[in-house]
Amino acid sequence: MILNIIPCSTLLYWIVAIISGGAILVLVGLRLYVFYTLGICKSKAQMDGKTIIITGCTSGIGKETARDLAKRGARIIMACRNPDIANQLKDEIVKESNNANITVRKLDLSSLQSIRKFAQQINQEESKLDVLIHNAGTAETFRKKVTEDGLEQTMATNYFGPFLLTHLLIDLLKRSKPSRIIVVASELYRLACLNLDNINPMSTLPAYVYYVSKYADIVFTLELARRLEGSGVTANCLHPGMIDSGIWRNVPAPLSWGLKLIVKMFFKTPEQGAQTTIYLAVSDELNKISGRYFMDCAEHRLSNAVKDPAKGKKLWELSEPLVKLQSSDPKI
Ligand SMILES: NC(=O)c1ccc[n+]([C@@H]2O[C@H](COP(=O)([O-])OP(=O)(O)OC[C@H]3O[C@@H](n4cnc5c(N)ncnc54)[C@H](OP(=O)(O)O)[C@@H]3O)[C@@H](O)[C@H]2O)c1
Ligand SMILES: *[C@@H]1O[C@H](CO)[C@@H](O)[C@H](O)[C@H]1NC(C)=O
Repeated sequence: MILNIIPCSTLLYWIVAIISGGAILVLVGLRLYVFYTLGICKSKAQMDGKTIIITGCTSGIGKETARDLAKRGARIIMACRNPDIANQLKDEIVKESNNANITVRKLDLSSLQSIRKFAQQINQEESKLDVLIHNAGTAETFRKKVTEDGLEQTMATNYFGPFLLTHLLIDLLKRSKPSRIIVVASELYRLACLNLDNINPMSTLPAYVYYVSKYADIVFTLELARRLEGSGVTANCLHPGMIDSGIWRNVPAPLSWGLKLIVKMFFKTPEQGAQTTIYLAVSDELNKISGRYFMDCAEHRLSNAVKDPAKGKKLWELSEPLVKLQSSDPKI
């Protein structure tokens, strides 16, 4: 018997070695998989003469999106809730890109009043808007929050805010056609469903509401594309990949410890994570493409549930009163 020949301690040693060797191989394989499936925006298109709004670009992929688009010569409007941090970043980007045409405007997407103020200023000051990038997003794990408007905080920031802002800027976008609206959603929408009897879910676990908000983002984008057909304004959404960004900052310990390890080992850098947004903003081949979902700079399938036009119409109609859309506001 083999057990009689090899001492027990040596056998144990081999078992441990084989298991850890296998685990390391799996991890390296996963890492290589992540690396080789990365979508990189290959377009060299310049954006001189284009005006682009990017929301939430003080951190993560928004920051890298702003940096890249500034280098392509666009006028960048950084729509951020913390103007001090945004202005510091702006100085850095101006220096790095040699593009002085970058402006910071205050926007807190969890406040309907802030959104109106921001949009009013843009409509007054800007003669055109070529690309509107809804990038800002927030996620909580357990902590429940309600905004001053009575909206659930994550839904307000990730979905209701962009819904209202799109309305308030739509005339400028239409006048600037061909123009583009880009919504940063998430593949994690697959973990959620949208309860149309309660689109402002106050008592649901906030971590789950994040998935719901991304689900709503996709339903919204598809409905927006249907409503904008023939207008010269396109609307597309995307999953940026899993990224080592600030979005995980609200995960409490000890959950955050394990997460940190995974994030550092397997997730994309913010620069890699920004590629699909950049691709949707600059790529010539997407001029007429609307109502689609992208991942790693390529079109991707959506679930049938999220594509249901009846759901899109219903969500839209339910959202209008929640964001206090006025009869004097533009209709889409
Ligand atoms: N990271 C991922 O793995 C991942 C995966 C799928 C989708 N996404 C999506 O990617 C987008 C960008 O996120 P990120 O990963 O780059 O995270 P991030 O580093 O946390 O950046 C989020 C940005 O949104 C801003 N923001 C948050 N709440 C806001 C508000 N009320 N008003 C205005 N701006 C606000 C933040 O500003 P402050 O700095 O002031 O907080 C920050 O600039 C989000 O829509 C997110 O849902 C991320
Ligand atoms: C800033 O950008 C806008 C839009 O791209 C352009 O029309 C304008 O000429 C630029 N201004 C300067 C000073 O470069």
